[in-house]
Amino acid sequence: MDIHTNIPLKNFTTMKIGGKARFIVEVRTPNEVAEVYRDAKSKQIPIFILGSGSNVIAHDEGYRGLVIRMRIPGFEIIADDINNTIIKIGAGEIWDSVVKRVVDMNLSGIEAMSGIPGTTGATPVQNVGAYGQEIADTLQSLEAYDSQNDKFVTIQNEDCGFFYRDSIFRNIATGRYVITSITIKLSKNQPRPPFYDSLQKYLDEHNIKMYSVEIIRNAVLEIRKTKLPDPSIYPNSGSFFKNAIVEKWQLDDLRKSNPNVPVFELGDSRYKIPAGWLIENAGLKGALIHGIRVYDKNALVLINESATSYKDLAYARDQVIGKVRDIFRVEIQQEPLEM
Ligand code: EPU
Repeated sequence: MDIHTNIPLKNFTTMKIGGKARFIVEVRTPNEVAEVYRDAKSKQIPIFILGSGSNVIAHDEGYRGLVIRMRIPGFEIIADDINNTIIKIGAGEIWDSVVKRVVDMNLSGIEAMSGIPGTTGATPVQNVGAYGQEIADTLQSLEAYDSQNDKFVTIQNEDCGFFYRDSIFRNIATGRYVITSITIKLSKNQPRPPFYDSLQKYLDEHNIKMYSVEIIRNAVLEIRKTKLPDPSIYPNSGSFFKNAIVEKWQLDDLRKSNPNVPVFELGDSRYKIPAGWLIENAGLKGALIHGIRVYDKNALVLINESATSYKDLAYARDQVIGKVRDIFRVEIQQEPLEM
């Protein structure tokens, strides 16, 4: 393994912001992960795991420790019957290549998560989801290196603490586990309605009445093109804010002045309010704040147009959060992780 020093993190994050990492190393096997951890622990160097940097924000002072770039490969069918195929996938595999591969195999379960940037091992961390599917729906278990106990563990779905854009890996167990592979269970049945609202709308508009995983993948890729800017042209981290989760009394309060606010019921008397709607209706769509643009086609996305520092980004973020709070009395939070 080659360890590189003083590498600018802006080259490794799609937001294109951030100072230098003291050390960077690429790992290609689970054993290399353990090796790197043992070594870093003995030297008391902190570690951060980076996939492809599409959901991570780096600070101006950079990272004083070691950044591990996850590159573990793997795509292995571990069970197959008339209804399902179970596949184990290495954490370093590019997520969308995995989606394409299983769609080509005519398997259903992750086709609506087409076009999401990033690596496979990152998907459980924030319970990645789109257009009606989330990784929690298909993930059976995952393998990880437990850095606290220096051993490899298998964690079952129900122990991952999955919730909307959340799991133990970015919550109570932050920094403890390094996901090395995930195992997902896919179906041989073709996708069936009801589909996610905006997906159904696209299918209706295109007069699509027969559904296959390939048709759904292509539809999602087309929808994403119109709503999510290509990070290789416009630096961004996808949705920059999580949708707000509110209680019943907050929803009632919000509805008094905004009867048309879109709402998704989560159960438990909790409701999801789209942050994109809140930001747009706070008048911020298209705004330019310290070099950061609130994307004019989707207010949930912040584009780094000319910002050069984390400070600029944080200023823009706090302006958006503050204005939404002042107008709607609802608190929205940043979605990408910070290193
Ligand atoms: N909306 C607005 N203005 C906007 C954006 C959205 O009014 O500028 C409204 C829409 O009209 C709609 C509602 O907000 O009524 C929800 O919008 P949409 O269905 O497009 O999805 P979203 O809630 O904005 C989430 C995910 C996306 C995912 C889409 C599709 C989060 C934070 N974002 O966005 O995920 O692709 O659903 O399922 O949950 C990501 O996490 O990086 C990401 C792109």
